[in-house]
Amino acid sequence: MIEVKNLYKSFDGKEVLKDISATFKSGEINQIIGQSGSGKTVLMKSIIGLFRIDRGQIWYGDRNLTDMTRKEIKLLHQEVGMLFQGAALFDSMTVLENVMFPLEMFSKTTKKEKIERSRFCLERVNLKSTQVSSLFPSEISGGMQKRVAIARAIALNPKYLFCDEPNSGLDPVTALVIDRLIEGITQEYNITTIINTHDMNSVMEIGANIIFIEKGVKAWEGSKDDIFTAHNEALDNFVFASNLYKKIRTSQTGK
Ligand SMILES: Nc1ncnc2c1ncn2[C@@H]1O[C@H](COP(=O)(O)OP(=O)(O)O)[C@@H](O)[C@H]1O
Ligand SMILES: [Mg+2]
Repeated sequence: MIEVKNLYKSFDGKEVLKDISATFKSGEINQIIGQSGSGKTVLMKSIIGLFRIDRGQIWYGDRNLTDMTRKEIKLLHQEVGMLFQGAALFDSMTVLENVMFPLEMFSKTTKKEKIERSRFCLERVNLKSTQVSSLFPSEISGGMQKRVAIARAIALNPKYLFCDEPNSGLDPVTALVIDRLIEGITQEYNITTIINTHDMNSVMEIGANIIFIEKGVKAWEGSKDDIFTAHNEALDNFVFASNLYKKIRTSQTGK
């Protein structure tokens, strides 16, 4: 579990996050949703400790990140998997070498065990390790690249998984496959997973514990089942920005 308490973050006097408090649970998909520029990425990077916050607390279980030294934060990061926007794989490394990278950095197991673990992670994201291991990122599709990035993010058995817009650039069907994959892994290994997204399909598919950020303020929280009945103006403007969701609302409520 991760708990954020009264978090404030500004850049050069410009307040980007204001008094954010939230609880992110283990074994389920926690989502941070909101329009582009609302502060999702800054919030995620603050929680990971990549940005120093102005005020507030960030708890990983009973450990307070805000009290940690740089060295302690680095140690914590060995328990953290990250999947950032445009999931940068290393172009000059094969698929297998990409997945093995965090193991080479942090794991003290033998080479053979690292290869086995990497192959296991590739299989877990439904890639045939015998077929893809020696390929380079440029030789596989965008959806497969995303899977490799997920395999790499789970290589060290993380307790925490952060995904910033994991669906960006994928077609809707592949996006759904990736969502389901992250959801399945989260439940199977009881990971505290936080996903940033502005993709309503994603929200309606896997959003178990959602916070909605508007202009740096938490404007709503709930689950995907609460969204249509939330009656929050800012949330409605976000959700019903798409004509499809407007039509769904009309068909459900007659309004
Ligand atoms: N490193 C930075 N320095 C200054 N301002 C930043 C920085 N990163 C983000 N911002 C600003 O913070 C706000 C929120 O950005 P961001 O968290 O990236 O939004 P989102 O991820 O929701 O699209 C934006 O106004 C952005 O310009
Ligand atoms: Mg962002």
